[in-house]
Amino acid sequence: MALALEGKVALITGAGSGMGRASALEFSAQGAKVVVADYVPEGGERTAAVIRDKGGEAVFVQVDVTNPAQVEAVIKKAVDTWGRLDFAHNNAGIEGLLGPTAEGTLENWNLVLATNLTGVWLCMKSEIVQMVAQGGGAIVNTASAAGLHGVEGFSAYCASKHGVLGLTKVAAKEYAKQGIRINAVCPGPIETPMLQRIVGVSRVIAPASTAGATPMGRSGKAEEVARVVAWLCSPAASYVTGVGMPVDGGYVA
Ligand code: NAI
Repeated sequence: MALALEGKVALITGAGSGMGRASALEFSAQGAKVVVADYVPEGGERTAAVIRDKGGEAVFVQVDVTNPAQVEAVIKKAVDTWGRLDFAHNNAGIEGLLGPTAEGTLENWNLVLATNLTGVWLCMKSEIVQMVAQGGGAIVNTASAAGLHGVEGFSAYCASKHGVLGLTKVAAKEYAKQGIRINAVCPGPIETPMLQRIVGVSRVIAPASTAGATPMGRSGKAEEVARVVAWLCSPAASYVTGVGMPVDGGYVA
């Protein structure tokens, strides 16, 4: 489906792997210029190289989304390079350590919340300032099916993803009149390096988080999420804001 994203500028965090890489490739395939952001240079450089090999425009910026100065710098890089920022997919995230709530560590709690929730908030702050200044834009945050229901063994992760949905809804209402649409995707089990790591331990902790638990009986592909993210940013979704859209093969239905 053509989404009319030609000439637009998109920032994707966590774009060095999994869903972030698929999103970067999808935005590029739809005609957007892409700022590929990740804290792992090898993955991010690879994503940018794949885009350029296909004839697209991409620049890699190393950023830790928990670092306010680095987050500000990546938005500035987008604007310095291409003059504006039309779309942002705040996607960087970690699963952290899994296990029963009472056995979790403060260190793990702080790291998961800092990455998955504070990181999204920091990105949104700078993105919104730029989008207000230029008269509009669209943001999609990666939450999770674990932002919609509890998954045993994932207390910090679930709390962070429920938080992402709350943040998404508040900001969507605050900036709707300024032409900024803000939505979230709630993926079910998606075939990425993160899922491979989770499946290794979740057979014991939470079998319900794995592919077999979906009504479709399969995990999703990163590209199936990327297409929804690009659609949510596109003019085709012009009356959609403040939603947390499941992309999960019916998992939370
Ligand atoms: P992944 O592990 O393949 O990719 C995550 C990327 O984020 C990596 O490139 C990593 O380097 C980057 N990253 C992590 N912390 C960062 C930080 N502080 N600053 C900058 N970059 C950072 O994982 P996947 O599966 O592609 O996950 C993407 C998002 O989707 C995450 O937010 C995850 O929580 C979420 N999600 C994943 C699901 C799955 O089944 N794979 C299901 C639902 C949500």
